[in-house]
Amino acid sequence: MTRRILVTSALPYANGHIHIGHLVEYLMTDIWVRFQRMRGHRAVYVCADDTHGTAIMIRARQEGRSEEALIADMQAAHQRDFQGFQIEFDNYGSTNSPDNRELCEHFWKALRKQGLIVERDVTQLYDPLESVFLADRFVKGKCPNCGAPDQYGDSCEKCGAAYSAIDLVDPYSTLSGAKPELRSARHYFVEIEQLHGFLEQWTQSGEHLQLEVANYLKGHFLAEPLRDWDVSRPGPYFGFELPDAPGNFWYVWFDAPIGYLASTAEWCRARGERFDDWWRSDDVEIHHFIGKDITYFHTLFWPAMLKVAGYSLPTRVHVHGFLTVNGEKMSKSKGTFVMASTYLRHLDPAYLRYFYASKLSPKVDDIDLNLEEFAAKVNADLVGKVVNLASRTARFVDRLSERYPEDEGLFEAGAKLGDDIAAAYDACDFARAMRLVMSLADRANEYIDRKEPWKLKKDPAALDTMRDVCSVALNLYRQLAVYLSPVLPKLSQQSAELLNDDLSTWKAASVPLAGTPVGKFQHLLARVDMQAVSKMLEETLSTEPAVVAEPTPAAAGGSALTDSDEPLRAEPIAAECSIDDFAKVDLRVARIVAAAEVPRADKLLQLTLSLGGDERRTVFAGIKAAYRLETLVGRLVVVVANLAPRRMKFGTSEGMVIAAGPGKQEVFLLAPDTGARPGQRVH
Ligand code: MSP
Ligand code: ZN
Repeated sequence: MTRRILVTSALPYANGHIHIGHLVEYLMTDIWVRFQRMRGHRAVYVCADDTHGTAIMIRARQEGRSEEALIADMQAAHQRDFQGFQIEFDNYGSTNSPDNRELCEHFWKALRKQGLIVERDVTQLYDPLESVFLADRFVKGKCPNCGAPDQYGDSCEKCGAAYSAIDLVDPYSTLSGAKPELRSARHYFVEIEQLHGFLEQWTQSGEHLQLEVANYLKGHFLAEPLRDWDVSRPGPYFGFELPDAPGNFWYVWFDAPIGYLASTAEWCRARGERFDDWWRSDDVEIHHFIGKDITYFHTLFWPAMLKVAGYSLPTRVHVHGFLTVNGEKMSKSKGTFVMASTYLRHLDPAYLRYFYASKLSPKVDDIDLNLEEFAAKVNADLVGKVVNLASRTARFVDRLSERYPEDEGLFEAGAKLGDDIAAAYDACDFARAMRLVMSLADRANEYIDRKEPWKLKKDPAALDTMRDVCSVALNLYRQLAVYLSPVLPKLSQQSAELLNDDLSTWKAASVPLAGTPVGKFQHLLARVDMQAVSKMLEETLSTEPAVVAEPTPAAAGGSALTDSDEPLRAEPIAAECSIDDFAKVDLRVARIVAAAEVPRADKLLQLTLSLGGDERRTVFAGIKAAYRLETLVGRLVVVVANLAPRRMKFGTSEGMVIAAGPGKQEVFLLAPDTGARPGQRVH
């Protein structure tokens, strides 16, 4: 059956260039879309630039031009980068479009009509010189915890403390240097809690989300009433004005996902398609590909908004992890914050397409680009195994044997494996698909090594045998080129030219070619040159792209809580103890300075704690299911500092970190309020 599939990637912000981290997502989506098309399905891939927000407004001011001029340039740059990596959209729009405004108004009306909008005043820091409310990124001051100067409004880079911008000591606006004032303004909120039941059911049904994502939502958000979502900002703000509250604008995250619909609408108009056939049809699958940092928006707010406005809900939201380079976060100072355009000046996009494919799975784990491994893998697999099949045999023949020769069952085995490879692609398990393809390549190479066509070529009596061996090799190569085609469209195109054949459908891998001409062998893919890799890093180091990041607060706003009695019933209060009993337990504030996975332990993380000065402790904590490593480092916790050390399979645990909750995803570390310092005793 032919599926109709609408596919999106997250809309990249218009305030920065595309980098190799973004490319994880756009390549993943592009590969999936190309695969679906090869299988004969109808897949439409839409995206757009995410253009609104304070950051864009400020940048335009700094550059002395209009926001429209800025976002037009950036959109052109983004499209060039995508094209360079063979990422092909059916439509690439902008959230600053008439379609999007109209759709936003439609969503807004529906939210109003169903009584989901509430208003409240919110107090924020305000820059009196620039006349703007200051998002956390635009305020600096002394850290209220350690006193370090010039720290941002949300957290301290020196000591890692997280706080609210209002707590900064001697704050100043990064825009004008002015001392910010506290001002209050009206904000509009969506009472998303009214859809709690629906979201519980939608997220937990097992159909739309990866299990780990569903569990994360359940543990972190759905266990409590959902907080109201602040969807407006007072002007000046670059965005769309609320039709019924002039002077207020929709927050960028309100209109951004609606941009998926706006981009589809644009495509429909260009193609003479009906919009409702795509966004209001039970016959269409909707697939969103996103990074883990924006899970909340796409799995709670977005389905809620679609539901209220009467559009189709996502069939599936595919969440991927973050890119690390050589095991660490991408870093400007190490030169690993590589822009797409910089990469393209030094390396072939096919390398990255293949390398990411070989790493991507349906899990949310981060993926690491180790540059040594990158070069070794591409060289061994693509050049050494795949391309080598063609380069060792195509030159010897100008025509394939009239009948496909006996091949020890190799082609047939490869055709059979096609179903497994397809299933892996469909499930976004590209890593498995690549492993299966390489296992076929290994067998094909083993065949040629044994048959040695280069020797047969020298013997006039063996020319027919030689042609047969080469025909087998080229057919096995062709099968691989079909299976790799979603990942390596250019290689597949070149192979189609070499073999005078069409490799654009999956079926091509199940019928061997015979009696057709073989073209002149052209160079297909060069080895990765480590020197080019080094040059790319050097160039990254020497250019500093200006990126003003739009802060992404998880869930803003607040709401009343009614506490359930379930926890107390589950674990009644313990027998009385004296104050002296309690005093025996020495609780201290500590800072997590490092967090690491423990090999072969599925519950534990290894934490290194600082208790101030040189006092360090290694503690194994059963919090792996509940916390991501990168969110732990820097934060303050409470530790039982005088607990007898405990020998464990993995090492000695020198204390215990205090946490609440029954376990698994539901573990909640205790955090001292801002101002507490490592080493302080908890009384
Ligand atoms: N504008 C929002 C998305 C709005 S969607 C309605 C946004 N933009 S972004 O430019 O910051 O990121 C775009 C996508 O790229 C997101 O899915 C994000 O998770 C992904 N990535 C950005 N940096 C990344 C890495 N370093 N690694 C992997 N993916 C990354 O978020
Ligand atoms: Zn600090």
